[in-house]
Amino acid sequence: MKKITVLVSGGGTNLQALISACQEGKIKNGKISLVLSSNPNAYAIERAKAANIRTVVVNRKKYSDAKNFNDELLHELKRENPDIIVLAGFMCILDKRIIEHFKNKIINVHPSLIPSFSGKGFYGLHVHEAALKRGVKITGATVHFVNEIPDGGPIILQKCVPVYNADTPEILQKRVMEQAEWLILPEAVSLICSEKFNIKNNIVNIEV
Ligand code: GAR
Repeated sequence: MKKITVLVSGGGTNLQALISACQEGKIKNGKISLVLSSNPNAYAIERAKAANIRTVVVNRKKYSDAKNFNDELLHELKRENPDIIVLAGFMCILDKRIIEHFKNKIINVHPSLIPSFSGKGFYGLHVHEAALKRGVKITGATVHFVNEIPDGGPIILQKCVPVYNADTPEILQKRVMEQAEWLILPEAVSLICSEKFNIKNNIVNIEV
């Protein structure tokens, strides 16, 4: 059974999708053993507690700089020593030491079809604002491994979602979550827990 740690900062609907998938037996070889939040007020913490999952807060606002924050994060992650780390709406950048220590063990869900609307500054609602501004007719979500390039790691799964004329960023965000993120994140975690993939030349090959 793989030990999963989920990193969160906000509402935690993607965390909820993972919790439900575990409860429904859709993630066969994995168990969420820790939820770590960068925000003490994140509703995701309540979701974890309701599912009897251990929670830890490493409050980003308490640390004067990113290095000190990442020191504490690395300390907590080493202590837990998970097999898989899932960034599920985690709004802080992990530093190189964490990425190297957990190489090919960290995955992220991003609310667009990478490489569109990704990288520095593209997070949360900003991603959907940019998609609407550009007038794309299709957007979606991506689950990818985390490497040193923001949103630049090997892509595991993607799913597309239509964009409509009347969309606001909030409406589009909800559709992308419901029709893409909440489906492909548990699916990707399940694939990784079952070790049904390999990575060659930065490309993820899924073994079916
Ligand atoms: C999700 O849409 C997730 O893809 C996005 O933030 C939201 C968190 O929602 N993440 C990023 O933008 C990271 N670059 P949640 O807390 O309800 O899961």
